[in-house]
Amino acid sequence: MQKEIFEQPVALANTLEMLGTAHSIQPGLFGAASEEVLRDVKQVLIIACGTSYHAGLVARYWLESIAGIPCSVEVASEYRYRDSVPDPQTLVVTISQSGETADTLAALQHAKSLGMARTLCICNVPESSLVRENTLRFITRAGPEIGVASTKAFTTQLAALYLLTLVLAKLRSRLSEQAEVAELHALRHLPVAVSKILELEPEIRDWSERFSMKQHALFLGRGRHYPIAMEGALKLKEISYIHAEAYPAGELKHGPLALVDRDMPVIAVAPNDALIEKLKSNLQEVRARGGELYVFADAGSEIPESEGVHILH
Ligand code: F6R
Repeated sequence: MQKEIFEQPVALANTLEMLGTAHSIQPGLFGAASEEVLRDVKQVLIIACGTSYHAGLVARYWLESIAGIPCSVEVASEYRYRDSVPDPQTLVVTISQSGETADTLAALQHAKSLGMARTLCICNVPESSLVRENTLRFITRAGPEIGVASTKAFTTQLAALYLLTLVLAKLRSRLSEQAEVAELHALRHLPVAVSKILELEPEIRDWSERFSMKQHALFLGRGRHYPIAMEGALKLKEISYIHAEAYPAGELKHGPLALVDRDMPVIAVAPNDALIEKLKSNLQEVRARGGELYVFADAGSEIPESEGVHILH
């Protein structure tokens, strides 16, 4: 797993390689029939499990705010068994590292049986069952993921979902030429940005030593970083056997704050975005109850380090 975490820059570079040096993004990235399938799509339904589901939850924020397209995200094992209202103009997006997850495959069959024929998968294994079952596909190039917990596959899924967002935004005339060039430039910079973050390993190792004796942890985020907090909590449970929960930071005061004390470390994802001031006031609520904060911030977030408040930029 450690090795695979450190393969993220290469995995991302390989996944984004198909952009080449182009200054514009082409729907063809998702298959020959992309433009025809995607052009008059009315909404997006994302179906996946576990970490892949979390990638879908992040994408919902992008698809709605950048492409202006309604999006819902469902856990495959729920969707396949519930009565839902189908719409043939929905784009059904399945996400899976392996392409063999039984619930995801069955949920896709279920969607198709309801008359939803516009299907696209994001998958890391080209010869998998999932890839065979979809009209459109995007193969992430994370390389084999052997570790039981999904890491580099998640990051490449996010890159693929961001490309899908840009393609849909373009088809819906919501992406100016200038914005398109800027987005592509930023995407190409991603592997370097991720390498920079991996340089923080010694500090992260220090943090983990302090965590190792804890029984519980709380992860907080707002907006598109709430699903990132969910993914952090899943990883801590799965790999460290420490009980962890994730909450949207604004929900803290509606119950979970009662659990916060000096034995409950609170991890927050705090980039300098439109919600940073709101998040800061949630973090003060944690401090007021004696909770110890571990904050992933960025340079502009302006959260000072103090007693009980640890910051990584
Ligand atoms: C968590 C993890 C799982 C998988 C889930 C779906 O670290 O690896 O939650 O994400 O089992 O697997 P795929 O993506 O192969 O469908």
